[in-house]
Amino acid sequence: MPTPTGPPRPKPTLAAILWVLATLTVPALSHKQRESPKSGLDELLNLGGSSCWGHEKGCSFEDAHGVDGIKCSDDIDVYSGKESRRIFHEQADFGYLAGIRETEQVICQGEESTLMCTKNLQFCHGSNIVLDMRGVHGQERSLRYQTDVLQPGNVGGRCEVFRRDILEDNFEHMSALQSWAPEMRNFASLNESFEDMCDVYVEEPTYVMKLDAVVNLYHHFCDFLNLYLSQHLLSSLDDEGNEDTFDLKKRILIWENDPYNSNFGAAFRAFTDRPLANLDAFGPARICFRRLVFSLPPRMFFGLYYNTPLIPNCSNSSLINSFSKFMLRQMGIVRRTKVDSSLLRVTLLSRETPHRRILNQNQLVAALEATGRYQVTLARFSHATDFLQQVQTVHDSDILVGMHGAGLTHLLFLPEWGSVFEVYDCADPGCYGDLARLRGVGYVGWTESEGPLAPRPERDPKLADPKTAHEKFTNYEFDPEEFVRKVDEARDKVISHPSFRTFLHQSGEKEEL
Ligand SMILES: *[C@@H]1O[C@H](CO)[C@@H](O)[C@H](O)[C@H]1NC(C)=O
Ligand SMILES: *[C@@H]1O[C@H](CO)[C@@H](O)[C@H](O)[C@H]1NC(C)=O
Repeated sequence: MPTPTGPPRPKPTLAAILWVLATLTVPALSHKQRESPKSGLDELLNLGGSSCWGHEKGCSFEDAHGVDGIKCSDDIDVYSGKESRRIFHEQADFGYLAGIRETEQVICQGEESTLMCTKNLQFCHGSNIVLDMRGVHGQERSLRYQTDVLQPGNVGGRCEVFRRDILEDNFEHMSALQSWAPEMRNFASLNESFEDMCDVYVEEPTYVMKLDAVVNLYHHFCDFLNLYLSQHLLSSLDDEGNEDTFDLKKRILIWENDPYNSNFGAAFRAFTDRPLANLDAFGPARICFRRLVFSLPPRMFFGLYYNTPLIPNCSNSSLINSFSKFMLRQMGIVRRTKVDSSLLRVTLLSRETPHRRILNQNQLVAALEATGRYQVTLARFSHATDFLQQVQTVHDSDILVGMHGAGLTHLLFLPEWGSVFEVYDCADPGCYGDLARLRGVGYVGWTESEGPLAPRPERDPKLADPKTAHEKFTNYEFDPEEFVRKVDEARDKVISHPSFRTFLHQSGEKEEL
């Protein structure tokens, strides 16, 4: 067996390590209404009367959390003949995680170290694992999306049984954001004692993450969803760490050497109260991790929610719902105390980008307000807008309106009764329609037959000509009357939603039917 090697370098001094730790970035917290992240978490995680989530061993479909909430318009899937709700549960709800859990295999087993991985090395977790950063630390080149960050022996453990053959059977997805194969192919069984091996020992559980795209809300929330899913998976797979899987005393190691910088970074507060670390964080040292988790990567084949194949007639995943609740709770977002059925709150996302702007948005806002049925917020969210304020604005809305674009990912933060109106899908109909279905909120779009009537592309002949302009790279105008008609469609969905009616009742408003 190879042992970890690296260029002989001086061991980092304690002062150097402390300096590195002190300079790590922590996303700023600036939200006034922050509550203790732990409060209410137990309630959220108490499964609301179900005996299990649906990913655990022995948890049947019938017993799983939220399966009664899955809505399908067809009982039986026409293609497979299987029950539709069951398919949805396996594709996009907690059954999806059960499918991953079942494939777990032992790679390394010893007195000191363990390593277990699921199929195609999408998820691994282990104890007493070493990462040798002596050759990784301080590189000039960006290591983002690289598949050669590690060299043979740079990751390893003290194993009595090491199943290299099983590892090799799972190398098929050898790509940066699809699996941990590029890293795990370098795993080695070591002969040194774990206790003498390292320069730095990390006692807290550490989640290693590969990030998709931190500037884009849709893609970055795919990262956060996969981190959330990884916590669930670990609680299902690990006999020891069950109780504290969701607490904040964990480290997150981002598999990059670029400093983390994202306006959405406050979302990390849902997972950890420690500074974020990256590949340079621990110095040119051998790092020993007591508990190490290689989190589900964002671009897996059939990953959630990017790349998810979804049975067409079903909606409302309790997994996505619980993610939404978890994030809102942990980010300290509070629910308003009243709703008003005669004046629904509409948030219209205004894009500040060169393309896909709504050219007559002021006219549309005026048309909505003129009905007397809507209180409209024109939200000009940008990378300078505090993210938690953005989420609070959306959570305070009944209807979210926007052009096809990452901003619509905010639909994750609507209240349960919320609806989203994608004013034009720019010929990409699946994306936010599917996300709305996963979340179980109402969705309104222009159907194909209405399409050409409603959105009018910019009249600049070059931008308007379909031969020269892609639907996504132009700007649009909308007919105000048609626009109001569509928002009214979303309104009907909101007003008839059972949880809106319940909340209305609680807020003391009389039912007017
Ligand atoms: C199911 O979905 C398909 C494809 O979107 C659609 O054509 C069909 O009408 C739907 N069936 C029902 C009962 O809604
Ligand atoms: C969606 O599912 C959740 C459980 O995950 C349930 O509480 C909720 O009522 C469902 N929504 C609808 C509209 O049925």
